[in-house]
Amino acid sequence: MPNLVFLNANEIVSNSGVVLKGGVGVLQEDLGILKNAALVYNSKDGILWMGENSKLPKKFLKGSKKIDLTGKILTPALVDCHTHLVFAGSRHHEFAMRLTGATYQDIAKTGGGIAFSVEKTKAASVKELFTLACAHVDKLIHLGVGILEIKSGYGLDWPTEKKQLEVIKLLKAKYKKQILIVSTFLGAHDFPKNATTPEKKEAYTKEVIEKMLPQVAKLKLADACDVFFDEGYFDWNQTKRILTKAKALGLQIKVHADELTNTKGAHLAAELSALSADHLLKADLEGLKKMAAAKVVAVLLPSTAFYLGMEFASMAKIREAKVCPAIASDFNPGSSPSFHLPFSMTLACLKMKMTMPEAFAAATYGGARALGLHSKHGFLEVGKKPKMAVFNCQSYQALISQFAHPGLCSQLL
Ligand code: NIG
Ligand code: FE
Repeated sequence: MPNLVFLNANEIVSNSGVVLKGGVGVLQEDLGILKNAALVYNSKDGILWMGENSKLPKKFLKGSKKIDLTGKILTPALVDCHTHLVFAGSRHHEFAMRLTGATYQDIAKTGGGIAFSVEKTKAASVKELFTLACAHVDKLIHLGVGILEIKSGYGLDWPTEKKQLEVIKLLKAKYKKQILIVSTFLGAHDFPKNATTPEKKEAYTKEVIEKMLPQVAKLKLADACDVFFDEGYFDWNQTKRILTKAKALGLQIKVHADELTNTKGAHLAAELSALSADHLLKADLEGLKKMAAAKVVAVLLPSTAFYLGMEFASMAKIREAKVCPAIASDFNPGSSPSFHLPFSMTLACLKMKMTMPEAFAAATYGGARALGLHSKHGFLEVGKKPKMAVFNCQSYQALISQFAHPGLCSQLL
């Protein structure tokens, strides 16, 4: 394969200082932006050189494939580290219900919400789910998302959870060259419809721990395990048992924490040294500080707070706790029907008062860190082979300010 030489980029964003700071307290200068820059890449050895265009050693030009990036930028690919992208059916009617005042919990109590998606997903075949999911992934690629996490969790029984994980496996294979996909088992997303008593809920928890998780590990169907830890869903003890077992089986662990209520999810994520605690709308400062000490990433999902009309996670507390933030879309049919990660970055700035450098770092390095991929991805460095994206805009800032720009990403590497 010849070297690829990218020339005349308006900006190459390396995130060099972001890496040194572990994604915490990011300032503009930490983005390590090179202006009028060039980068030499080889699919075998990764980045061979990057720097100012005028300083590009001539030897790289011979026999290479040249790509002119005038008016464009080259950056680490965006990382969407939290999605529920494999599902059937539509829940747009819930949007209408929320407009008349119904909350997420009200909708769930009347059989809507996760339970609705479970019914539709159960009824769908692997082929149907795969076709629907491919349509989403195809669009994500055009947004510059090069790394994508996808959770199961619309089965709540082994055959359907397995079916969703198999669809994710098929997606990994189909998109291998373009996008890196991470698979997360979320059998503990909710309790099945018939688990109406504490005893039945406990029986389902046991089924996740004793039957599903060993199968997930044995069949290598997931890279990570997640639990929806919240009031009315899995409690402290159940969450801890599920994630402890997952860890023992070699899976990475993540938690949906402190979203609807403060159940001390941030504290538990820190105690278990999870890779990330996600949502955190109601998290307390003490919990966030514990997360920082245990190096747990705070995955912020501003689009969900926006759609649910809830107060956003507190960026002031996240800064004070010195915890590394990530931004993800939380794409799912109910609480966040948008897969537009740049839109989540826009919201993070406008509604959570994140700075633009913080938002960019959170949607690249922070996301990679939330998936345990930050030694290889989320930054550009000679000798590394990170996922990268070319965007049709003048500056990384345009990604955030022009979120709906069509044809934003022109190339993923
Ligand atoms: O991250 N909070 C739990 N799970 C999803 C919502 C899933 C759904 O409503 O279908 C979330 O927001
Ligand atoms: Fe989620």
